[in-house]
Amino acid sequence: MPSTDPRFPNVSIYDHPLIQHKLSIMRDRRTEHEQFRQLLNQITGLMAYDVCRNLPVRALEVETPITRMTGAQLAAPTTIVPILRAGLAMMDGLLALFPEAHVGHVGIYRDEATAQPVTYYAKFPPGVADGPVILVDPMLATGGSAAHAVSLLKEKGCRDIRLVCLVAAPEGIAALHAAHPDLPIHVAAVDERLNERFYIVPGLGDAGDRIFGTQ
Ligand code: PRP
Ligand code: URA
Repeated sequence: MPSTDPRFPNVSIYDHPLIQHKLSIMRDRRTEHEQFRQLLNQITGLMAYDVCRNLPVRALEVETPITRMTGAQLAAPTTIVPILRAGLAMMDGLLALFPEAHVGHVGIYRDEATAQPVTYYAKFPPGVADGPVILVDPMLATGGSAAHAVSLLKEKGCRDIRLVCLVAAPEGIAALHAAHPDLPIHVAAVDERLNERFYIVPGLGDAGDRIFGTQ
């Protein structure tokens, strides 16, 4: 089970030793992009189990080799939405658990000078509002990108939105909570602060660059 921190409403912190071990390797500047990607997917998969704990289910009549019984099935299709680029590298970990999930995409980058989010792409499957949405992005810094993506999903009528991040800054959590107080946020770590360039400290650097080897 994730833990909670009274400073951060709606935030579940995944401080499991296995997750913290893998995250520490990711933070190391010497870790190359292949291992970085593998670890990001592994951590996402480990987090996904609890992110999905309260997914709605409905009764399902099942005939076992012995008798009939009432089992359960997920009540609505789940849509996974990565925030491009970096969120793409969390998809394999989630789709391994949810091979039947629908997938949407939001393309957002931060303007380098202002750190304001710029949206360049958004496409969601029909019926995205009919079930839970798992929004994924490894980094929650100022919170601008995630807040914008949540607003786009709410405009589509989505009500059950869950954000999964790897590392968050307290400033970003506060901003996101102010914009979307109803949003559950799942993180592997809450770091100290943002620096003057709006990077997370200690963080792990630029996630997209480390995933795709573009720095
Ligand atoms: C990173 C990260 C988030 C965003 C977080 O993306 O993946 O989307 O920054 O910052 P924020 O909370 O201040 O909005 P980036 O803008 O570097 O784009 P990229 O994934 O295309 O590299
Ligand atoms: N985006 C990143 O990839 N890293 C940060 O520290 C902040 C925003």
